[in-house]
Amino acid sequence: MRNKERACEECAIYSEKYALSEDTTQEELLALIDMLNKKGSISGILVQLPLPKHIDEKTVINAIIPEKDVDAFHPINVGKIMVGNYDFVPCTPAGVMELIKEAGIDIRGKECVVVGRSNIVGKPQAMLLLHQNGTVTICHSKTKNLADKTKQADILIAAVGIPNFINGDMIKEGAVVIDVGINRLENKKLCGDVDFESAEKIAAAITPVPGGVGPMTIAMLMKNTVKAAMVNQTKR
Ligand code: GUN
Repeated sequence: MRNKERACEECAIYSEKYALSEDTTQEELLALIDMLNKKGSISGILVQLPLPKHIDEKTVINAIIPEKDVDAFHPINVGKIMVGNYDFVPCTPAGVMELIKEAGIDIRGKECVVVGRSNIVGKPQAMLLLHQNGTVTICHSKTKNLADKTKQADILIAAVGIPNFINGDMIKEGAVVIDVGINRLENKKLCGDVDFESAEKIAAAITPVPGGVGPMTIAMLMKNTVKAAMVNQTKR
């Protein structure tokens, strides 16, 4: 959240932060969202997840009006991504797509393997790759013979949230490896879902953690917010 706030300052985007206490009730949170939904000077709303156990995530996500849902988590925005007609792209998968594009990697016809099936990353990531004509496989914690699948990947995206889960032995020579994981180890160090040391010897290109996908996620949040401002302005 600190980085998101800083990015807003750098982009000259006005922002308001509500650091609510953990015992905030769902009603109080919904009332705040309702206020921000109606507030003309606010173009985008982001509720940082995860939420405390007593608050229902779905109810909260559904309460944000789709036009201000810069995370693209609302079912209307999720549905739009599914059919390929979207205003907002979820920030992390969008950042991954931007990295692939900037690196000059053509997705068309490539074997793309996404490890992880979360609503925030895995599922929308698979859709975005599919829209670019990738051949997409989604793997997850229950996938049998995972290494057989990951070894097929020309483009491998790790988004499982398990430190160093993917190692060099699970990667095809010359693959593009994108590490979405941000895991905090006991020694407080950050590490990804990919064991960088063994993977970089095999991969043609690989993103580091920290510094790879993370900053891209925030850049895409800024992009969605500017888009929201433009869309909401024309509606006002
Ligand atoms: N928690 C982890 N990633 C995200 C994200 O992209 N958006 C929000 N709102 N919460 C998160």
